[in-house]
Amino acid sequence: MSNLATPQLALARADQLDTADSLAASRDKFSLPDGVIYLDGNSLGALPKAVGARLHRAIHEEWGVGLIRSWNDADWYPAPQRVGAKIAALTGASAREVIACDSTTVNLFKVLCAAINAQAGRAERDVIVCEEGNFPTDGYIAESTAALYGKQVVFANQDTIEATIAGVGNKLCAVALTHVHYKTGRIYDMQRITALVQQHGGRMIWDLAHTAGVIPVALHAWNVDYAVGCGYKYLNGGPGAPAYVYVREDLIAQLEQPLVGWHGHAAPFSFEQHFRAHPSIDRMLVGTASQLSMISLEAALDVYADIDMQAVRAKSMSLTDFFIDCFDAQLADYGFGLASPREAHLRGSQVSFTHPQGYAIMQALIERGVIGDFRAPDILRFGFAPLYLSHRDVANAIAIAAEIMRSGSWREAKYAQKKAVT
Ligand SMILES: Cc1ncc(COP(=O)(O)O)c(C=O)c1O
Repeated sequence: MSNLATPQLALARADQLDTADSLAASRDKFSLPDGVIYLDGNSLGALPKAVGARLHRAIHEEWGVGLIRSWNDADWYPAPQRVGAKIAALTGASAREVIACDSTTVNLFKVLCAAINAQAGRAERDVIVCEEGNFPTDGYIAESTAALYGKQVVFANQDTIEATIAGVGNKLCAVALTHVHYKTGRIYDMQRITALVQQHGGRMIWDLAHTAGVIPVALHAWNVDYAVGCGYKYLNGGPGAPAYVYVREDLIAQLEQPLVGWHGHAAPFSFEQHFRAHPSIDRMLVGTASQLSMISLEAALDVYADIDMQAVRAKSMSLTDFFIDCFDAQLADYGFGLASPREAHLRGSQVSFTHPQGYAIMQALIERGVIGDFRAPDILRFGFAPLYLSHRDVANAIAIAAEIMRSGSWREAKYAQKKAVT
């Protein structure tokens, strides 16, 4: 019998692993409901306790009393740069290279245009390579941007991407990939693929939606051209929090993107008739920020203030390894298939399993407080945010899943009814 085959054995092992957890104290910085094991921080991060008080102040004092004066007096106006600097610290960039703004999709549009504009005059470079099966928004915006500029998109999958890039050769304009796959959690080798793309004369764009806050990367040192990502996943900025965009410093001064607005102007408050781009990363801004969401994200990022990203990655690998081991020991007989890489270094901070009845099983789990999500057609997805999860949470989640499968309680008709958001 495996040493994780029963809930008691798994809990005993979990407690051993948790004793060595250097990040355990950060759990207390989050507000999580009792009776919930939250395995969806890869989709919507949990609420950091400090955010509530900060938003209360922003609403009642800065907005309610300060009114419009708060753009200056409460330092609202430079918040996109301050938030960008905090995200830069988590992604191996300099504060001058990252700014918080808009949504990931909109930022992808801006950097795709920037990459295409940077190749202007080289008409033969008309191919943008993207990943088939990536999160849909990335493919949608790439195809629409390519059409605007008379370029074509070539799709490849994670196994064929490098050969495809090499095959496109000197027709390569840009490559846009998501570092950690949203369904499977499989990771690309960011440094190697960036170098390969640049060898072929293309520009490299990374979507860090499932990376920032859980996997240390070195955007600047690895010579990444552009990157984008979400503020509401592992960065815990709250529903619809602003996204961010990174541009390597040497590319900023020449960067051209068509979503020009007054916040990207060199002198926004001179109200000039014609657009002049700001010399800095500010040229990626368009219009007024969603200020309350920006403030929420800024406060949320403080949970990372003293955190070592290598320790976050080590704990993430340990939690996901432990989840898979417990799953194998207690849930092997119920028709699940592992959809994520088994080797931790190839996997982001999530584990996905396939099951033909995955939707109903996930609903039964959620009703019992184990919150993950479902991605069509058959993926049960579990995200592991190392700042607020323990190995004990993992062992308890597996025990609940094993009970649902053993009893067959997931077969109740109510669990099969599809909700709008899965
Ligand atoms: C890889 C990836 N890119 C982008 C997004 C979302 O983009 P947006 O913030 O524009 O909704 C997601 C959302 O889950 C995602 O997984």
